[in-house]
Amino acid sequence: MDIVKTRKDLDERLSALRNASKSVGFVPTMGALHEGHLSLIRQARRESDIVVVSVFVNPTQFNDRKDLERYPRNLDEDIALLNTVSCDLLFAPSVEEVYPEPDTREFDFGQLDKVMEGAHRPGHFNGVAQVICRLFDMIGPDKAFFGQKDFQQLVIVRDLVRQLGLGTEIVACPIVREPDGLAMSSRNRLLTEKQRKSAPLIAQTLLESCNFVENNTVRETIDLVKGMVDKSDDFKLEYFQIVDGNTLQPVDNWQESNYIVGCIAVYVGEVRLIDNVVYKFVK
Ligand code: PAJ
Repeated sequence: MDIVKTRKDLDERLSALRNASKSVGFVPTMGALHEGHLSLIRQARRESDIVVVSVFVNPTQFNDRKDLERYPRNLDEDIALLNTVSCDLLFAPSVEEVYPEPDTREFDFGQLDKVMEGAHRPGHFNGVAQVICRLFDMIGPDKAFFGQKDFQQLVIVRDLVRQLGLGTEIVACPIVREPDGLAMSSRNRLLTEKQRKSAPLIAQTLLESCNFVENNTVRETIDLVKGMVDKSDDFKLEYFQIVDGNTLQPVDNWQESNYIVGCIAVYVGEVRLIDNVVYKFVK
């Protein structure tokens, strides 16, 4: 695996690896890599000739300074993990390299970023869009791989690609979970031992709600999930919403859409975790 930190080195390595007939698969990350990230890289390997991974903690998508400072960073550990999978090129730039001057670009995602993560983290998706634009511009991927764990991000990145007419195909990859159900996340390592033990309740609640939906209304399902999460003193529910998987707008009943997803954000102590579950998907 080649490791490059500047745009100039990236250009050089990419043009050495790439020729007209080779496809580039790209996996953007913020590091603190885990099995969820590695599953994306394996998928990229299966579908591309050259696999590029970026590790960059993007400051413009953090609306909370403390969250940015606390975000786990360990490039040596990331490199060791990347060496266990088949990655050709790691791009790990500095902030100055990605943003030589401040990015003032503003995107319009209509209603997509007015709900859930977008409503609770103002400016977050604008920052995600800024960095994705810059990284796609530098790498020129044929395909880019995103996890369904960040469901709203996936929908918004698809919209970004559509709006800008970019030639990159966005590939969605399933959520990877710990054996106890907790969705893997770089933030999990910020949990205390006690918090880590209670955190799987989030996924267990979502799983239980899947069995519940058949005989109950959307409202009753929301109440079930809220009730289960509220029972634990370790948790503070930020939101749980049942939405249309394409428009991200709340649904009132199960007939309203062919694609229905339940999305949750919970504070476990100071650590904010998100997860989601697909209730209905009919092609
Ligand atoms: P990060 O949180 O590092 O996640 C990088 C990618 O890994 C995202 O596409 C995310 O959905 C995916 N991922 C994380 N945990 C996962 C899990 N348990 N199962 C499957 N996929 C998982 O998301 C970001 O970084 C940033 O916003 C980024 C897109 C890199 C832009 O800065």
